[in-house]
Amino acid sequence: MHDADLDVYLHDSDRIAALRADARAGLTSTPKWLPPKYFYDARGSELFEQITRLPEYYPTRAERSILDTRAASIATITGAKTLVELGSGSSEKTRLLLDALREHGTLGAFIPLDVSAVALREAVTALHHDYPDLHVRGVVADFVEHLDLLPHAGGRLVAFLGGTIGNFTPQDRAPFLSDLRAQLDTGEWFLLGADLVKDPAVLVPAYDDAQGVTAEFNRNVLRVLNASLDADFDPSSFTHVALWDPDREWIEMRLRSTRAQTVRLPALDLAVRFAEGEEMRTEVSAKFRPEGLRQELAEAGFSLRHWWTDDAARFGVALATAA
Ligand code: SAH
Ligand code: AVI
Repeated sequence: MHDADLDVYLHDSDRIAALRADARAGLTSTPKWLPPKYFYDARGSELFEQITRLPEYYPTRAERSILDTRAASIATITGAKTLVELGSGSSEKTRLLLDALREHGTLGAFIPLDVSAVALREAVTALHHDYPDLHVRGVVADFVEHLDLLPHAGGRLVAFLGGTIGNFTPQDRAPFLSDLRAQLDTGEWFLLGADLVKDPAVLVPAYDDAQGVTAEFNRNVLRVLNASLDADFDPSSFTHVALWDPDREWIEMRLRSTRAQTVRLPALDLAVRFAEGEEMRTEVSAKFRPEGLRQELAEAGFSLRHWWTDDAARFGVALATAA
């Protein structure tokens, strides 16, 4: 397969320009931070897939069990003609929706959208093979920057799964939800997967697994900076930190410098000093309460129609309409 099957709105040059701006902003701040979207080069996307199979990482299995039980209802309720998926990754769980919508007889097209061209290309190749009659068109784009480029097909269901909504800070979440609402016609549908607040004894191991896969995923952002900005981070001198913040109700991933060191980023003409023990924030993963989520959806112009959780109420899936 070649890129005739992908619409590329985010080119490598755009990604690197954004990374340069974000790295300069984040690495010159106190405390330092980096945005999570840069985890996902080919290796990062593969590490995320490994995370989804870890015994400690319950969200993927919990969301899959909800979709397993509810996909047929989602198909009947929405009668969607086009399924759009934001941050689609491998689109593995999404197959449950594709199957149900196909069974229902309404679905004509699937549009997965992701920043990771490699992950998307792999997913689209597999989908073409397994759903030869379905129109599948991958979109390489940023769901913050490029929502206005979504095909205006009518009868759309936009899925945002995996709990990726939690990787926004609350300040960034509200404009994202409002922008998405603005792209939809009244009556079109939004399916949102959200991880729920729970015992930190369950949450923390999900982000600090015994095999160290999440630690490698976290450190991968440094490899991305090395490859894209010619930086000289030594990933082995940063340890993985995962903390539960009970006030903000989010997991925070950080990288802690094990020694005093200076990292050079010649592409930015920047040298960044890390003190021994200094921590840099690389991701937040917010956890939700049903009422809070309903309110945030309402504030963005969505009306919650259905709310489903898995048996252990670890994860929730909201089905809302553009009101
Ligand atoms: N939806 C899948 C994958 C979740 S991982 C699941 O539920 O398992 C998060 C995905 O979002 C990754 O594939 C990553 O590349 C993508 N992503 C992260 N930030 C993005 C952004 N700003 N725009 C588009 N995709 C993004
Ligand atoms: C993609 N996102 C929902 C994952 C999460 O759980 O926040 C990313 C991840 N970070 C560490 N493990 C998984």
